[in-house]
Amino acid sequence: MAGRIPQQFIDDLTARVDIVDVIDARVPLRKAGRDYSARCPFHDEKTPSFTVSQEKQFYHCFGCGAHGTAIGFLMEYDHMDFVEAVRELAARVGMEMPAAGDGDDKRRAQNQALYDVLEAAAGFYRRQLREHVRGAAAIDYLKGRGISGETAAAFGLGYAPPAWDSLLPALGKERQAALLAAGMLIRKEGGSLYDRFRDRIVFPIRDPRGRVIAFGGRVLGDDGPKYLNSPETPVFHKGRELYGIHEARKAVRHLERWLVVEGYMDVIMLAQYGIHYAVATLGTATTTANVERLLRMTPEVVFCFDGDRAGREAAWRALENTLPVMREGYQARFLFLPEGEDPDSLVQKEGKAAFEARIATAVTLSAFFYDHLQRQVDTGSIDGRARLVELARPYLSKLPPGVFRHMMTEHLATLARMEAHALGVMLGGSGESRVGRRAGRSAPPQHRQMSLVRHAVFLLLQRPQLARLADPDRLAGLDLRGVPLLREMLELLRENPHFNTASLLEHWREDSNGPYLVRLARQELLISEDEMAREFEDVLKRLARQGIEQRIQALSEKARTAAWSEEEKAEFYKLMQEKSSKT
Ligand code: UTP
Ligand code: MN
Repeated sequence: MAGRIPQQFIDDLTARVDIVDVIDARVPLRKAGRDYSARCPFHDEKTPSFTVSQEKQFYHCFGCGAHGTAIGFLMEYDHMDFVEAVRELAARVGMEMPAAGDGDDKRRAQNQALYDVLEAAAGFYRRQLREHVRGAAAIDYLKGRGISGETAAAFGLGYAPPAWDSLLPALGKERQAALLAAGMLIRKEGGSLYDRFRDRIVFPIRDPRGRVIAFGGRVLGDDGPKYLNSPETPVFHKGRELYGIHEARKAVRHLERWLVVEGYMDVIMLAQYGIHYAVATLGTATTTANVERLLRMTPEVVFCFDGDRAGREAAWRALENTLPVMREGYQARFLFLPEGEDPDSLVQKEGKAAFEARIATAVTLSAFFYDHLQRQVDTGSIDGRARLVELARPYLSKLPPGVFRHMMTEHLATLARMEAHALGVMLGGSGESRVGRRAGRSAPPQHRQMSLVRHAVFLLLQRPQLARLADPDRLAGLDLRGVPLLREMLELLRENPHFNTASLLEHWREDSNGPYLVRLARQELLISEDEMAREFEDVLKRLARQGIEQRIQALSEKARTAAWSEEEKAEFYKLMQEKSSKT
């Protein structure tokens, strides 16, 4: 997404924009000490806990946890996508958006034509519900399913007439090419065209920005293929989209979680009962792209499935596709419904409160994961426990490194009755065992070293100007987790001394370190500039010292098996000298 706008442009933009102006134009701010505050626009509150830091160019609500940069605020508050938010801010500070390549322009124009006809088609179908002679039957069907007029309007439901050629005459011959490309018309062998959706209730499928990108259509009765969907088109990729994201975000400013269900009707009926956070996959398994998109918007997702065998299998597939994006701060849970029920039928039967009580009992990803695996082995025996480790191994290796992976490994250690550290080493590269392995054979987990790097990154995020006190080269050769990130940060800041906290966060937005940096940036550090500078220098000094120690140790180890070269000898004595001068 950000790939198309050069990082340099985003870097410059975030350094120029003032988040206080941007937010103040939408939510009036009051000065409160060093920061600005207001009642949070993302949740209901009586006293202001929403604060905007001009210095960090970052907002944060202590009440609901909403937070982000100016770009993030526009994405959240105005429901813009990343590129739109960048464009809006660029216009504000008078920066010209970098020209897209010719190919890009052409593609954008073509896609726009598709969006236009799809929107027009949605309008046409909505009108047919009221105007077509068979519209009454369609309305009866919806009423029969318990859908109110209000709900039908909120989701833009419509009716596609029975004729083979309704769309072209209604929307105009000049739109034929776009309608074909959008999958609304199908070409017959002989070359003539006919409407894909006929005599069906149609559900417009929107992207998160609200543009219609496809349709689903349901027969009014029970015969024929029950649902028909638009094919893949340049603006519709089934595996990426979810039904209901836009409607959910429109209904509620701050979503606490997502509920992923199977059908259009489930999403609609849940919304009618006040559960506005449901979305549906489009007749496919939940993909990694789906989960990633959801978790980025709101960090908790609950998958809802039938309690039968097929439902558990689908849930397991969702779990597999969730693992690659699971990191600390994200939560995924699984809810199984009684057999024969779906959310649509259940919420009508028992209402909002009872349904939400079910959601509250959904099991965590780790519980579902280990429960599922344990059913396949006998953990009472050594063989069974070894088998459990083997079964879990390929899945754990899919998890991104971090606290979540570490905890999953520890849990496995308990179940397998193994020592956690040994298991970590055996599974390879999880948590701090990796540092231990790389830095020196038998070294114990090196918490202190890890926290030094983290501390340096933390201070830099709080006050990017501290970077001028540091020399990235002094960290060369230091083999610790996080050092490459720290060095990259120092180098970036050396080239761009005007960068603020938000610039750093935007620079790493698409990176796997992004969420980690955001978490560090949110914390407040209540010490003076001087103290901060002293602390930073101290941390760097200690890191440099560790670099020396590591190198000395590596050389000593080598000496046990081979002779040193002249260079190595010289290096060793130089290191010993530096070491004694620094302690
Ligand atoms: P279901 O058959 O569970 O549909 O399919 P449902 O939502 O309960 O349907 P109603 O209540 O009878 O109206 C779930 C989803 O699978 C896709 C659709 O996206 C549907 O919402 N599906 C189903 C198809 O794409 N084609 C089909 O023929 C059936
Ligand atoms: Mn159903």
